[in-house]
Amino acid sequence: MKTSTLVINVASSAPATAEAIGIAVAGDGALPKEIILTRTQLGALGFEGKVGQTLVIPMVGTKYTIAVGIGEVGKADADVMRNAAAALARASSKIGSLTTTLANAGRGDRSEIAQAVVEGLMLATHRYDALKTKVKLSAKLSTVTLVATSSTTAAVTSGAKRGVIIADAVLMARDLANMPPAYLTAKMIAEHAQKIGIEVGLRVEIFTKDQLLAMGCGGMIGVNRGSVNPPRMVKISYHPSAFRGAKKSVGKKSKSAKPPHLIMVGKGVMYDSGGISLKPSDPSHAMMKADMSGAAAVLATMSTLKALGCKNQVTAYLMCTDNLPSGSAMAMGDVLTMRNGKTVEIHNTDAEGRLVLADGLSLAAEQKPDAIVDIATLTGACARALGPSMSGVMGNNQRFVDQVVSASKATDEQTWQLPLERQYRKLIDSYIADMKNVGGPDAGAITAALFLEEFVSGIPWAHLDIAGPMWADADAGWLQRGATAYGTRLLVNLAENFKKR
Ligand code: BES
Ligand code: MN
Ligand code: ZN
Repeated sequence: MKTSTLVINVASSAPATAEAIGIAVAGDGALPKEIILTRTQLGALGFEGKVGQTLVIPMVGTKYTIAVGIGEVGKADADVMRNAAAALARASSKIGSLTTTLANAGRGDRSEIAQAVVEGLMLATHRYDALKTKVKLSAKLSTVTLVATSSTTAAVTSGAKRGVIIADAVLMARDLANMPPAYLTAKMIAEHAQKIGIEVGLRVEIFTKDQLLAMGCGGMIGVNRGSVNPPRMVKISYHPSAFRGAKKSVGKKSKSAKPPHLIMVGKGVMYDSGGISLKPSDPSHAMMKADMSGAAAVLATMSTLKALGCKNQVTAYLMCTDNLPSGSAMAMGDVLTMRNGKTVEIHNTDAEGRLVLADGLSLAAEQKPDAIVDIATLTGACARALGPSMSGVMGNNQRFVDQVVSASKATDEQTWQLPLERQYRKLIDSYIADMKNVGGPDAGAITAALFLEEFVSGIPWAHLDIAGPMWADADAGWLQRGATAYGTRLLVNLAENFKKR
């Protein structure tokens, strides 16, 4: 499951073998002794200590000193340090081994800073370059040693460990989302999930087309009808083993020992052509291979839980199929019967994400978990409203939505709450079925969420629409051009910190 080739070490002093040393430099205050230049000289070379700035200073005898901007003294929190570390990784991408003081700089909990630094380093170095035959795009950087002091070594080490686990998961999700449609079909992502399950000790169940038919998953079957690739639903179960023993031994207290249960549902549209409502032939639609980014983020999240010692019970559903037109494809006017028995009139086959999610949400609700979160590249409307920097979040329970927002703030994967305005429910009324699958030109992100709400049976639920942040057009901070795997770190944080009510 290891994607990154970066090895992270922690030491109490810079190793002699490192080819470069990255030194945290604030925009004001005294300069660290390793920086041989004055503020005026640094300024003349264009380095002011701003976040994202780096300056490579060649040294006599030794290799390089790299000044890494961390902004205003006292304001360098984990988000700043993640971005600074990403900038350092980019500046050292042609260097094999690096050491840095970044994990010991900035303010806040040392293990949180170390985790953020490792995330920044790893997320800015690896690229999906399996299909490049000559030029490799991933950084040459292979070893980074974080310098800590005797009093911070333990915290830096534990934070760095968490950073490696989480960043590896993000990189895996990015790789999956960057893979071309023919390289990653629904069947293949299910096999991948199974492999991960074996590696990290998670229960993985795969549901085939026949099983989905038998289960009444009309959304999955309907969307898949036009494709020669069969659909797959993947169910992944994580249970904190500590609670298993506790439940048996404490007898009367067994009810309170039951861990909170969170279910995650990911949209896994392997390629979204729009179906019969075919998308126009615009090359930018190559990114519709990443319409399974929600499923990838959920799978990646699940892969970390055991290693992180997550105390909550977490179950995942990946709803995987492509959306293609053909003689057998679902048509406008068709009516699907979903897993929970509700009927849906198809008014646009390109509004397919909500159809596959509906079955996943229904199955999730049947288990009566404490909360359900879904994550989906769902609407262009959300991307237009909020842009590429943040997802939209909507839900039926403010306390749970607040938990999602907190996870977003803690991880710097930004989200913004949109209202689940019930007055707009009538926009998806159908004259022939219980509802139609599109609302119309207005409030597209909200009508999509109102559609999803029909399938959660009133259980606390939040929906993340990641159509905006799923893709990056250019490298920026810890983002790399291409699929971003947005939501992975947010969901890991939510899984770990989730509380019922
Ligand atoms: N996968 C798309 C949404 C999307 C658009 C994701 C851009 C990422 C970037 C989704 O299936 C879709 O096609 N949505 C339609 C819904 C419409 C038909 C109601 C859209 O947004 O146009
Ligand atoms: Mn679509
Ligand atoms: Zn889609």
